[in-house]
Amino acid sequence: MTQDELKQAVARAALRHVVPDTVIGVGTGSTVNFFIDALATMRARVRAAVSSSERSSERLRAHGIEVLDLNQVERIPVYVDGADEIDPGGAMIKGGGGALTREKIIAEAAERFVCIVDSSKLVPVLGSFPLPVEVVPMARERVRARLRESGGDPVLREGFVTDNGNQILDVHGLRIEHPAELESRLNQIPGIVTVGLFARRGADIALVGGADGVTQRDFD
Ligand code: 5RP
Repeated sequence: MTQDELKQAVARAALRHVVPDTVIGVGTGSTVNFFIDALATMRARVRAAVSSSERSSERLRAHGIEVLDLNQVERIPVYVDGADEIDPGGAMIKGGGGALTREKIIAEAAERFVCIVDSSKLVPVLGSFPLPVEVVPMARERVRARLRESGGDPVLREGFVTDNGNQILDVHGLRIEHPAELESRLNQIPGIVTVGLFARRGADIALVGGADGVTQRDFD
């Protein structure tokens, strides 16, 4: 199977986790795009969606699925999103698509995080994928210096502006043995809006597409 076929398979498998007639949380990325397309097949049972990016919102609306502002929503039973890396404890690096801030907000608001990945995203230790960090532009160089002190090599994502009007530093060269501790520490640096480590609120389950089909890992 190609990587796209694996992504399509996990996207379809995620439909079983959608709670009918409720608001679904929808992430961002190529795997999620397949999920949105699959979700359209059960559109009548989806009350509405909240989405982590303008791109995903557009795609949802194009399928006739209503997109609500998070402030209008009381309950999100399930949030479905991809990841750039996921470790054996369900901690993830996210933000390859630059949507990490809204992803983290919706993940926190949701009762259950269903992560959909192909098997290439499974890693024993996070950090081979550069860690995305969203920064307020005026603080970029101060934050960069602080990230270097943490042992990483932060590289500006050239020509990219987030949906929130900020910039992204991609931090190379980290080996993240204690993701929750690093997430808490980096969260203290003024000017950092969001760290693309999802460890304090990791995945509850992962659906993993591999050569043997889709397997489920439970973390809760
Ligand atoms: C976007 C993300 C995505 O979930 C992550 O980059 C994975 O994307 P893809 O499904 O395209 O591999 O965090 O900000």
